[in-house]
Amino acid sequence: MPGDNVILVGFMGAGKSVCGRMLARRLGRCFVETDDLIVARDGRTIPRIFAEDGEARFRTLEAEVLEALRLKGGDVIATGGGLPCRDGRMAVLRSLGTVVWLAGEMRDLEARARRTGARPMLDGRSREEIEALYRAREPYYREADVTVETSGLGVDQVVARVLSALTERSHGARV
Ligand code: S3P
Repeated sequence: MPGDNVILVGFMGAGKSVCGRMLARRLGRCFVETDDLIVARDGRTIPRIFAEDGEARFRTLEAEVLEALRLKGGDVIATGGGLPCRDGRMAVLRSLGTVVWLAGEMRDLEARARRTGARPMLDGRSREEIEALYRAREPYYREADVTVETSGLGVDQVVARVLSALTERSHGARV
């Protein structure tokens, strides 16, 4: 059923993929990543899309994938860090299910993002520029239905917090 997905948003390095995968397993749901959908549609890796066609093209592909998400129901969906950060995008995500922001300290997020995988949005950017990017994005993430603080927590603990927040919501309490 559309509208009953769990959608993870947050900055690069927040753990959306690893936590999303575990969350899906715990809930017995399918796991979907918007970045994987983009790669599957386009046929190139994300760093290649950025390198050959630039960020604007990547954002267009994200918009197309966002439309395709309307067909999803009952899934756990991890979004790319920049996907919700355009006007109107959070409203679309919230219409698709419960949006969970995996929040954290900027320094932790950046360190984790640099350790794990290629991140074209970080390449060649100074710490100040990354902080500015984070600050510009935070207001969008704040529109999530649920916020889970991840700093200092392991994947298991983050997933446990998400699960309990989802349970509280399903009992009618807004968290
Ligand atoms: C991006 C985040 C990446 C990926 C792309 C752009 C961003 O996903 O979508 O490299 O703009 O923050 P993760 O958040 O999974 O790193």
